[in-house]
Amino acid sequence: MVQSERVIPISCDHGGFALKEFLKSRLAASGIEVLDYGTFSEESVDYPDFIHPLARAINEGTYPLGVIICGSGNGAQMTANKYPNVRAALCWDVEQTVLTRQHNNANILSLPGRFIDFEIAWEMVDAFLNTSFEGGRHQQRIDKITQLLNTNTHG
Ligand code: RB5
Repeated sequence: MVQSERVIPISCDHGGFALKEFLKSRLAASGIEVLDYGTFSEESVDYPDFIHPLARAINEGTYPLGVIICGSGNGAQMTANKYPNVRAALCWDVEQTVLTRQHNNANILSLPGRFIDFEIAWEMVDAFLNTSFEGGRHQQRIDKITQLLNTNTHG
Protein backbone atom coordinates (compact mmCIF):
# COMPACT_ATOMS: atom_id res chain seq x y z
CA MET A 1 0.00 0.00 0.00
CA VAL A 2 1.31 3.43 -0.85
CA GLN A 3 1.63 5.26 2.45
CA SER A 4 2.35 8.65 0.99
CA GLU A 5 3.32 10.11 -2.35
CA ARG A 6 4.94 13.00 -0.51
CA VAL A 7 7.18 11.15 1.94
CA ILE A 8 10.63 10.33 0.59
CA PRO A 9 12.61 7.69 2.48
CA ILE A 10 16.38 8.13 2.44
CA SER A 11 19.18 5.93 3.80
CA CYS A 12 22.96 5.72 3.65
CA ASP A 13 26.13 4.41 5.22
CA HIS A 14 28.92 6.58 6.64
CA GLY A 15 30.18 7.31 3.10
CA GLY A 16 26.83 8.91 2.28
CA PHE A 17 26.05 10.58 5.59
CA ALA A 18 27.18 14.11 4.67
CA LEU A 19 25.21 14.04 1.40
CA LYS A 20 22.15 12.61 3.15
CA GLU A 21 22.12 15.49 5.62
CA PHE A 22 22.50 18.00 2.77
CA LEU A 23 19.67 16.44 0.76
CA LYS A 24 17.41 16.27 3.82
CA SER A 25 17.70 20.01 4.28
CA ARG A 26 17.00 20.68 0.58
CA LEU A 27 14.01 18.33 0.59
CA ALA A 28 12.60 19.91 3.76
CA ALA A 29 13.07 23.39 2.28
CA SER A 30 11.05 22.21 -0.73
CA GLY A 31 8.21 21.07 1.53
CA ILE A 32 8.91 17.37 1.01
CA GLU A 33 8.68 15.17 4.08
CA VAL A 34 11.71 12.93 4.58
CA LEU A 35 11.82 9.61 6.40
CA ASP A 36 15.40 9.09 7.55
CA TYR A 37 16.40 5.42 7.74
CA GLY A 38 19.94 6.32 8.93
CA THR A 39 22.81 6.04 9.38
CA PHE A 40 23.01 8.97 11.77
CA SER A 41 26.73 9.74 11.97
CA GLU A 42 30.02 9.26 10.10
CA GLU A 43 30.94 6.29 12.27
CA SER A 44 31.78 3.30 10.08
CA VAL A 45 28.81 0.98 9.46
CA ASP A 46 27.83 -1.79 7.03
CA TYR A 47 25.65 -0.38 4.22
CA PRO A 48 23.26 -3.40 4.03
CA ASP A 49 22.09 -2.68 7.59
CA PHE A 50 20.66 0.65 6.41
CA ILE A 51 19.74 -0.08 2.79
CA HIS A 52 17.67 -3.24 3.38
CA PRO A 53 14.94 -1.56 5.50
CA LEU A 54 14.36 1.16 2.90
CA ALA A 55 14.49 -1.28 -0.03
CA ARG A 56 11.96 -3.55 1.72
CA ALA A 57 9.59 -0.60 2.15
CA ILE A 58 9.86 0.27 -1.55
CA ASN A 59 9.47 -3.40 -2.49
CA GLU A 60 6.26 -3.60 -0.46
CA GLY A 61 4.89 -0.40 -2.04
CA THR A 62 4.94 1.62 1.17
CA TYR A 63 6.60 4.50 -0.72
CA PRO A 64 6.80 4.96 -4.50
CA LEU A 65 10.32 6.41 -4.61
CA GLY A 66 13.42 6.48 -2.38
CA VAL A 67 17.03 7.64 -2.25
CA ILE A 68 20.04 5.63 -1.04
CA ILE A 69 23.66 6.71 -0.71
CA CYS A 70 26.99 5.04 0.01
CA GLY A 71 30.52 6.09 -0.85
CA SER A 72 30.44 4.78 -4.41
CA GLY A 73 26.71 4.13 -4.76
CA ASN A 74 27.50 0.55 -5.79
CA GLY A 75 27.02 -1.40 -2.55
CA ALA A 76 23.77 0.44 -1.85
CA GLN A 77 22.45 -0.25 -5.36
CA MET A 78 23.45 -3.93 -5.27
CA THR A 79 21.69 -4.41 -1.95
CA ALA A 80 18.48 -2.69 -3.05
CA ASN A 81 18.29 -4.62 -6.32
CA LYS A 82 17.93 -7.93 -4.44
CA TYR A 83 14.20 -7.13 -4.14
CA PRO A 84 11.93 -8.11 -7.05
CA ASN A 85 9.94 -4.87 -7.13
CA VAL A 86 12.96 -2.62 -6.72
CA ARG A 87 14.70 -0.97 -9.66
CA ALA A 88 17.61 0.93 -8.13
CA ALA A 89 19.68 3.10 -10.48
CA LEU A 90 23.18 4.37 -9.79
CA CYS A 91 23.44 7.82 -11.40
CA TRP A 92 25.98 10.64 -11.59
CA ASP A 93 24.13 13.41 -13.43
CA VAL A 94 20.69 14.83 -14.15
CA GLU A 95 20.42 13.41 -17.66
CA GLN A 96 21.00 9.84 -16.46
CA THR A 97 18.54 10.40 -13.64
CA VAL A 98 15.80 11.64 -15.99
CA LEU A 99 16.40 8.70 -18.35
CA THR A 100 16.21 6.10 -15.62
CA ARG A 101 12.81 7.42 -14.56
CA GLN A 102 11.53 7.74 -18.15
CA HIS A 103 12.86 4.41 -19.47
CA ASN A 104 13.54 2.12 -16.48
CA ASN A 105 10.85 3.36 -14.08
CA ALA A 106 13.60 3.36 -11.42
CA ASN A 107 12.06 3.60 -7.97
CA ILE A 108 15.30 4.07 -6.02
CA LEU A 109 18.04 6.55 -6.87
CA SER A 110 21.49 5.40 -5.69
CA LEU A 111 24.04 8.18 -5.27
CA PRO A 112 27.86 8.02 -4.90
CA GLY A 113 28.28 10.28 -1.87
CA ARG A 114 32.07 10.50 -2.15
CA PHE A 115 32.18 11.19 -5.88
CA ILE A 116 29.48 13.74 -6.60
CA ASP A 117 28.96 17.47 -6.20
CA PHE A 118 26.21 18.00 -3.60
CA GLU A 119 24.38 20.67 -5.64
CA ILE A 120 24.29 18.35 -8.64
CA ALA A 121 23.03 15.55 -6.37
CA TRP A 122 20.18 17.79 -5.26
CA GLU A 123 19.29 18.61 -8.90
CA MET A 124 19.28 14.86 -9.55
CA VAL A 125 16.96 14.13 -6.63
CA ASP A 126 14.64 16.93 -7.78
CA ALA A 127 14.63 15.45 -11.32
CA PHE A 128 14.09 11.93 -9.96
CA LEU A 129 11.00 13.00 -8.01
CA ASN A 130 9.55 15.03 -10.87
CA THR A 131 10.05 12.79 -13.92
CA SER A 132 7.45 10.25 -15.02
CA PHE A 133 7.86 6.80 -16.56
CA GLU A 134 7.06 6.76 -20.29
CA GLY A 135 5.62 3.21 -20.32
CA GLY A 136 4.96 1.60 -23.73
CA ARG A 137 7.96 -0.28 -25.11
CA HIS A 138 9.86 0.49 -21.91
CA GLN A 139 7.31 -1.44 -19.81
CA GLN A 140 7.78 -4.47 -22.07
CA ARG A 141 11.54 -4.26 -21.51
CA ILE A 142 11.17 -3.95 -17.76
CA ASP A 143 8.87 -6.97 -17.72
CA LYS A 144 11.54 -9.00 -19.52
CA ILE A 145 14.10 -8.28 -16.79
CA THR A 146 12.40 -10.91 -14.63
CA GLN A 147 10.55 -12.89 -17.33
CA LEU A 148 13.80 -13.89 -19.04
CA LEU A 149 15.70 -14.68 -15.86
CA ASN A 150 17.32 -18.12 -16.26
CA THR A 151 15.93 -18.38 -19.82
CA ASN A 152 18.23 -19.20 -22.70
CA THR A 153 17.20 -16.53 -25.22
CA HIS A 154 19.79 -17.68 -27.77
CA GLY A 155 18.26 -21.11 -28.34
C1 RB5 B 1 32.58 2.41 2.68
O1 RB5 B 1 33.92 2.67 2.90
C2 RB5 B 1 32.32 2.11 1.21
O2 RB5 B 1 32.86 0.86 0.89
C3 RB5 B 1 30.85 2.13 0.94
O3 RB5 B 1 30.36 3.38 1.25
C4 RB5 B 1 30.42 1.89 -0.50
O4 RB5 B 1 31.19 2.64 -1.40
C5 RB5 B 1 30.28 0.48 -0.90
O5 RB5 B 1 29.92 0.15 -2.03
